[in-house]
Amino acid sequence: MKKILFVCLGNICRSPLAHAVMQDLIDNAGLTAQFFIDSAGTGNYHVGHLPDARMRQQGAKRGYRVNSRARQIKQQDVDVFDMIITMDESNYADVKQLMSTQHLSKLHRLSDFSNIPGFTEVPDPYHGSATVFEEVIYLIEDACGGLLRRCID
Ligand code: 4NP
Repeated sequence: MKKILFVCLGNICRSPLAHAVMQDLIDNAGLTAQFFIDSAGTGNYHVGHLPDARMRQQGAKRGYRVNSRARQIKQQDVDVFDMIITMDESNYADVKQLMSTQHLSKLHRLSDFSNIPGFTEVPDPYHGSATVFEEVIYLIEDACGGLLRRCID
């Protein structure tokens, strides 16, 4: 079983959406038993909270159940997960701090799995408009498709 952890700052907007999108892609491909998907935040501000209502609403419109409970990434995650996938450079740097050199090959940027020109980070939508949330969903859907293809190739 391949274990994938998506990481953002609060674990209430981007990584829960990536978690839901990836789980949906995996389930639709009949691969549920072959993957374990989870998400976490580098910060602890929202631990135990449901995802942000804007992300739950926008996700639901596109058929995703965005209903994980926020948690903070912990040292043990670095050992347990096969891939740890961050949304922006700040998340990447924070997770890298938790990793010894031997684990660094597990760490990826979500944009590594997309060919959308100019896409290097999933922007933090927390203080953004509905348009930013839509852009975030578009980027995450594209990259998760690329990630699944990479995993099954
Ligand atoms: P996320 O968005 O990292 O995609 O979950 C954020 C959620 C909350 C905050 C920042 C970003 N915050 O500052 O509380």
